[in-house]
Amino acid sequence: IIKACIFDLDGVIVDTAVYHYKAWKRLANELGFDFSEEANEKLKGVSRVRSLELILQWGGIAKTKAEQEELATKKNAWYVDMISHMTPAEILPGAKEFVEACREAGLKIALGSASKNSGMILEKVGITNLFDAVIDGNKVSKAKPDPEVFLKGAEALNVPPAECVVFEDAIAGIEAAINGGMKSVGIGSPDVLGKADLVISGLNEMSLEKLNTL
Ligand code: G6P
Ligand code: MG
Repeated sequence: IIKACIFDLDGVIVDTAVYHYKAWKRLANELGFDFSEEANEKLKGVSRVRSLELILQWGGIAKTKAEQEELATKKNAWYVDMISHMTPAEILPGAKEFVEACREAGLKIALGSASKNSGMILEKVGITNLFDAVIDGNKVSKAKPDPEVFLKGAEALNVPPAECVVFEDAIAGIEAAINGGMKSVGIGSPDVLGKADLVISGLNEMSLEKLNTL
């Protein structure tokens, strides 16, 4: 029986992937190259530091650790500037409604995100109070597919992993849920997220009935 839901943020609750992409693209362009939207898929669910490493690799550019830190900080400043203008209208269809339905049914709710900016995003779109626990990039040291972020979420909610469901749009996130011994629902394409227990195109397709079949 399911007692808790753990939600990824970017691509599940809000579509911030487009802002990450714009900011990384601007950085790449400043360094003299570009990368495609298709390549950008590889950055989903991936930490800031690791994203930069991948991008520099694509551009064939070597940077010292100190330079990398500077570049990541620069990208983040652009990103923060964009998300600081977010409004509740940017919550993905059905996301808020489904989380509220879970709460009303007595389920515990946690956020499990790699982002260090998740607190600000939740505030901007006005849903901070829907979460019993927020585990994000500031609280974890191991990136998905390591299950750390979701295990910390389950622990904070005081629910055993086997009674938790993770909602994720990134393959690394589905793998993290599996590695943590949790059920998973993929948000996106079955071609990419086939390892999940259920794949839907968005939380507008989710229901408590479907949750109970997992
Ligand atoms: C999420 C996003 C990634 C992003 C990561 C870190 O997992 O899907 O694209 O790189 O968070 O976000 P941050 O806001 O800390 O740079
Ligand atoms: Mg995501």
